[in-house]
Amino acid sequence: MYSGLVNVSYVVASILFILSLGGLGHQETARRGNLYGIAGIIIAVVATLYHTTENNLLATLVALTLGAIIGLTVAQQVVMTQMPQLVAILHSFVGLAAVLVGFAGYLDPLVSTTGAEHTIKMVEVYVGIFVGAVTFTGSIIACGKLRGSIASRPMMLPGRHWLNLAILVATFIMAGYFLTHENTAFNLVLLLIMTSLALLLGIHLIMAIGGADMPVVVSMLNSYSGWAAASIGFLLRNDLLIITGALVGSSGAILSYIMCKAMNRSFISVILGGFGQSSSSRKNTTNEPIHETSADEVSEELLHAQSVIVAPGYGMAVAQAQHAVSDITRLLRDKGVNVRFAIHPVAGRLPGHMNVLLAEAKVPYDIVLEMDEVNEDFSATDVVLVIGANDTVNPSASEDPDSPISGMPVLEVWKAHRVVVMKRSMSAGYSGVENPLFFKPNTRMLFGDARQLTEQLLVKLKS
Ligand code: TAP
Repeated sequence: MYSGLVNVSYVVASILFILSLGGLGHQETARRGNLYGIAGIIIAVVATLYHTTENNLLATLVALTLGAIIGLTVAQQVVMTQMPQLVAILHSFVGLAAVLVGFAGYLDPLVSTTGAEHTIKMVEVYVGIFVGAVTFTGSIIACGKLRGSIASRPMMLPGRHWLNLAILVATFIMAGYFLTHENTAFNLVLLLIMTSLALLLGIHLIMAIGGADMPVVVSMLNSYSGWAAASIGFLLRNDLLIITGALVGSSGAILSYIMCKAMNRSFISVILGGFGQSSSSRKNTTNEPIHETSADEVSEELLHAQSVIVAPGYGMAVAQAQHAVSDITRLLRDKGVNVRFAIHPVAGRLPGHMNVLLAEAKVPYDIVLEMDEVNEDFSATDVVLVIGANDTVNPSASEDPDSPISGMPVLEVWKAHRVVVMKRSMSAGYSGVENPLFFKPNTRMLFGDARQLTEQLLVKLKS
């Protein structure tokens, strides 16, 4: 009866996780989606504790308490802009767990198996450890690159594709021996060699990927960590872990696909790495003049505009300018100006970064538009305010076929009558590619910290 109750709880938790993913797809339902997820995880943890034998209960409770303390402490210290690196390091824990559970399942199986069942279990052990080890080291490197403690430039070893291929071939050959021979000491040695090679592959794969592709990498590692968790689920005969792992694995894969599309990259080209290595075919933009403006001038232009689009980016998040931006929006809308927001799919440093900040600052959802919904409207827009965005508004993506970001869909802000770019200097964005937008005749540069600038603008608009 107890195991029946646990199974029912697992089914309820799985349904809640699916509802949670569905809810997180839209801003209006995101809060509800989060609540479903929290309810699902509470049910899952309670059911698992219920299922745990007395001996393991103490160890489980100690581990849960320690994990909760560390999790709470870290979550309170991490600011929104550091979220991708936190997610990356959390994926590394899932990878490490998959490796440890794989070895535990091999050395001390919960149930003894024979024949085909045994072979299937050994495949689970082998695949689980391989995916877990790649995820573990890959996620640590991704975290280092996002934190800036490892250079974001791609590391290009000579013959790097051959090295990856050699590791994969060796892994397959060892798998052949491992699966066809009974438990021998040599099998354990093979497992250890395969683990070392997979750890090396994780490092090498992600080191070869440039900083601009890191969002896709993090979401790809998210997917790997899901599949690693699913393989742990098979080993532990835990249906909930299999379902949850598959949900994380597939949603991570879908998100990676969406991001690749948003950056006009193929999934394979991201994995093969090297993006950002070749220097951009910069035009000699340094000789072209730039036009500076002031808060006074911009406030006049805004007050005379009929339509305004705000294109926010990473700089708005760093400066925490969203509240002043929200106040400016309210003030202009009260004066009858049509103000909308244009959100690029990879603006900021994590999916939905801008949406979260704008929702926090109480900007109405219905004026926050996706790139595809608003890109056609720039040519009929009086003023575009680019606030701390750079790569996502770079015209070289569509105008310069030799640019490293050529073909990436971007917000076509330069088509507006007037573009005001707020940033602190002329420096490049995350991908390191220079931005010709700053030199366009209809662009005005408003230099400074985004928060200070927007607060100054607000004062001017009010006066
Ligand atoms: P970026 O291209 O990163 O440019 C941000 C700009 O903000 C910089 O050029 C910087 O210029 C400016 N800035 C920084 N601090 C500022 C401050 N306090 N006040 C005003 N401006 C400030 O931003 P983006 O357009 O949002 O593009 C995002 C980039 O990050 C893309 O390349 C994307 O691929 C990558 N990425 C995205 C994600 C996700 S999933 N969204 C995750 C990781 C990486 P100054 O230094 O001159 O001020």
